[in-house]
Amino acid sequence: MPRPTPPTSASQFSKGELTTLRKAARNWYAKHARDLPWRRTGDPYRIWISEIMLQQTTVVAVVPYFERFLQRFPSVKELAAASQDEVLKYWEGLGYYSRARNIHKAAGEVMTQFGGTFPRTVDELHLLPGIGRYTAGAIMSFAFNLRAPIVEANTLRLYCRLMGYDENPRSTAGQRALWAFAEELVPDNDPGVINQALMELGSQVCTPTSPKCDDCPLHSVCRAFTTGRQHELPQLASRPEITSLIEYSIAIRQDDRFLLRKNPEGQRWAGLWDFVRLSSVDEGLLPERGLHADRAIPAKLARAVEQVTLASSGCETRLAQFITEIKHSVTRYRIRLQCLIADWENGQPTGSDIRWLQPDEFDEVPLSVTGRKFARLLQQ
Ligand code: ADE
Repeated sequence: MPRPTPPTSASQFSKGELTTLRKAARNWYAKHARDLPWRRTGDPYRIWISEIMLQQTTVVAVVPYFERFLQRFPSVKELAAASQDEVLKYWEGLGYYSRARNIHKAAGEVMTQFGGTFPRTVDELHLLPGIGRYTAGAIMSFAFNLRAPIVEANTLRLYCRLMGYDENPRSTAGQRALWAFAEELVPDNDPGVINQALMELGSQVCTPTSPKCDDCPLHSVCRAFTTGRQHELPQLASRPEITSLIEYSIAIRQDDRFLLRKNPEGQRWAGLWDFVRLSSVDEGLLPERGLHADRAIPAKLARAVEQVTLASSGCETRLAQFITEIKHSVTRYRIRLQCLIADWENGQPTGSDIRWLQPDEFDEVPLSVTGRKFARLLQQ
């Protein structure tokens, strides 16, 4: 009888088990992989764009954006040559806009520092804005089929369960353990396929709730499954509490044009354009049941909004009309955004990039999701 090979590292998997695990993942992937547009290519540019889009965003949401983006920017050269406004326009609605700003900056650096060719080492990829350890590993292994480990949300969950890792995987020690395991798992031969297979298993089988352990080709070596702890792992820290906020979006109107300003660097939604947005109006002034298009805006609230509008925009205004309330979330905040029109009375708008646009010109600038919703209502 062959003697079992001893465990090789802190992950407590023997060489034999690691081989079994890779083979099972690979066979499963050959049968079950989803056909996704970024899997039909070895182009590092496309793989990079897909991986950045897939951060914090679902596959279903990404696919149409990915296709539109690549039609307009088919290579790093076109992307680097475009304006930031246009890149943000193609990102509009995907959220986490720093990703688009970084992609644009990184494209410029690939052109100037690497002669337009994607670098082929983790260290060089790491130098580019927005490319962290995971994205570097994904580009290395998926595009170049070079050996590099990956840990992202799906593989983090899968690895925690495979290892039976019962500490917080996002702690420094947890990250060290997970990356060490990923490093052990990734083989010299076909690292790209194995990494993709592990990620796909994490996403399709080893799901956050109700993992499909009976269908999992790895269950015989999974420490969580064999000890019945798959529902307890990973041990993620609880999410922060949700806070409710009231904000205002004020479309300042002068004749048939509205004021739009570009959000400066370092602010929320930097690079996107917006109406005047206020977060410091006394929340107690909003009627309990909210504002209503058919009812007058309470005078005290109107004066407070006009004052904060002046402080924020440099414009004296008179509130004219409540349009709608938009509910949305930013990180742990649930926001009820009050959208109003105010007539301009006096003063030069502050801000380095400002435009007075007619509603049919709103599509010329990139807006946040809520800015676009309000803009659409003003276009009607
Ligand atoms: N999530 C992150 N990267 C992914 C990829 N390449 N395919 C599917 N889901 C992913």
